[in-house]
Amino acid sequence: MQAKDRLIVALDVPERERALELVALLHDCCGMFKIGLEPFCNFGPSFVEEIQQRGGRVFLDLKFHDIPRTVAQAGRAAARLGVEMFNVHAAGGREMMKAVVEAVREESAGKNHPKILAVTVLTSLGAEELHRDLGINRSPLEQVIFWAKEAEECGLAGVVASPEEITAVRQHCGGNFLIVTPGIRPAGAGAGDQKRISTPADAVKDGVDYIVVGRPIVQAPDPRQAALEIVQEMEEALK
Ligand code: C5P
Repeated sequence: MQAKDRLIVALDVPERERALELVALLHDCCGMFKIGLEPFCNFGPSFVEEIQQRGGRVFLDLKFHDIPRTVAQAGRAAARLGVEMFNVHAAGGREMMKAVVEAVREESAGKNHPKILAVTVLTSLGAEELHRDLGINRSPLEQVIFWAKEAEECGLAGVVASPEEITAVRQHCGGNFLIVTPGIRPAGAGAGDQKRISTPADAVKDGVDYIVVGRPIVQAPDPRQAALEIVQEMEEALK
């Protein structure tokens, strides 16, 4: 995999036209575009198709969490849309994760199927919230490792993990288990509302497979230049 394939640009912009402009500008210097709940609810599945028509590949970040059959059926729809990756909450349980893996394989019938990632502990939940709101007594990191292992056992391709969790997930899961990490800031960029951050170079050295970057690219005066610099930083770290 080339360094540019490791870059996922979060298309968090409110206007559809601007988002499509960014796709045209960036599709050949990044691996994928991340479409989250906000653009998907605003613009619908046709937005995914428009991105693909402009040469962009899509990570559908809708974090499915429901009973096994419902998530399996949503996974089939994501596979039919032709996305490269989508995600589900590990908190949905083993039966749910196994059901969606099976459904997506069946739907894709031998063809390339989307990679399914697990969302573990949301980074908005610290130890206190995990205990008080969810009744979970493990530390956030222990819970991330627990759910990452569950996801791997159920046949998922990988996890979404914060920069602080990359090394631990790498240690506890297999070498092919994908780690996708947001909260990435190139040296010198503002952190915004991100608390646990890492640079592209450090994330790659820690063993990340893909980094997700939003504002440092989509709000840059020259988004293409910003993306190229991030790719170059990863290239140098990979040498
Ligand atoms: O603009 P920024 O680079 O912070 O964007 C990161 C993207 O990754 C956003 O779409 C954000 O919602 C998402 N994300 C995150 N932290 C998580 C999970 C997802 O920043 N723990």
